[in-house]
Amino acid sequence: MKELPKWVSLTLYNLKGFIVIDVKNLKYRLQFVKALILSGGKGTRLRPLTYTGAKQLVPVANKPILWYGIEALVKAGITDIGIIISPETGIEIQNKTGDGSIFGASITYILQDSPDGLAHAVKIAQPFLGDSPFVMYLGDNLIADELSQYLEEFKTKNLDALILLRKVSNPSAFGVAKINAEGEVLELVEKPQNPPSNLALVGIYFFSPLIHHAIAKLKPSARGELEITDAIQCLLVEQKLVCARQLKNWWLDTGKKDDLLEANRIILDTNLTTENLSNIEDNSQIIGRVKIGQNTKIINSTVRGPVIIGDNCYLENCFIGPYSSIANNVKLSEADLEHSVILESAEVIGIQQRIVDSVIGQRAKIYLALKRPKAVSFMIGDDSQIELT
Ligand code: TTP
Repeated sequence: MKELPKWVSLTLYNLKGFIVIDVKNLKYRLQFVKALILSGGKGTRLRPLTYTGAKQLVPVANKPILWYGIEALVKAGITDIGIIISPETGIEIQNKTGDGSIFGASITYILQDSPDGLAHAVKIAQPFLGDSPFVMYLGDNLIADELSQYLEEFKTKNLDALILLRKVSNPSAFGVAKINAEGEVLELVEKPQNPPSNLALVGIYFFSPLIHHAIAKLKPSARGELEITDAIQCLLVEQKLVCARQLKNWWLDTGKKDDLLEANRIILDTNLTTENLSNIEDNSQIIGRVKIGQNTKIINSTVRGPVIIGDNCYLENCFIGPYSSIANNVKLSEADLEHSVILESAEVIGIQQRIVDSVIGQRAKIYLALKRPKAVSFMIGDDSQIELT
């Protein structure tokens, strides 16, 4: 049975001999907080991976990015979760993530026909959200801070919106907030040329149902989307209570390759525990924190952690350096790599140069055909990047 939220408070007072119960806003306050995770979108910045798969399912330390968000919400006590999906990648997300029971949550999938903006996603989710307060969570974002502290503040202060901020060096690339000394938001601007501060909006927001009224008034922006920053700005103009808090720890938006590698590095650094479910032969060296899945063979190789290696992998004559994540069914032979993410069923064979800072997609193959190659031959998908350093 779900617990009643702590913020349900009734005012009892004695008026001319009668007990009066102040039920103002009670209906609204009795609602459980829901969550809406946005996992649609175009994912253009993570092409070519996003041509064939959802960016929210790209693994960080061998776990889909999206799952970190679900786990963080469940940890904060929010288990009624809607997930926005797109027609292109929605089925994949549904098949992988299921009905939420593996997380102790209940997941409702909501199809967004086209990626018409973050506020558009909230608009189409309104039947699911009803008049509940909710957390909106961008499915490609990761934060180290626990959500519960912010959720508690949102509830106890009865805020109309609580947004999270993080100092960045390039605010022009983000939604930016101007705040006063009390942490109240004065102004929000999307990707400003002259940023009013260096505080970027993190992709996690807490909203009261008032946001639906603000969204109903929006017109598409210059880029043709319904912008959530415009909706929050609308709350500000109407003098609603919008507060901001600065994150205490890291925030990563994994929508780009370098951010994805950075997320992988941080998660391996902070979360990885040593575990070996396979039988590793004596002629291999496993050093530091390394997690190895089932039925994986490691022959005549050195693995220097933190590294995670999935199930059914085959590694022979390899050096695997720190901050590498190798998914299931990967084959590596005569390969030397570090600070890289290798997706399922990829193969790297006979490449003598060290592979660094790389993301290698599912079933991709890099191999040496001749011992002393005179030329290189490629079959590369659209928007791929090859950098010879
Ligand atoms: P973005 O990363 O801002 O947009 P995008 O996914 O289209 O990526 P890119 O800029 O590389 O083309 O989106 C943040 C998150 O919100 C991401 O998980 C996708 C999701 N999203 C939706 O679900 N619906 C939308 O209409 C938009 C714009 C994003």
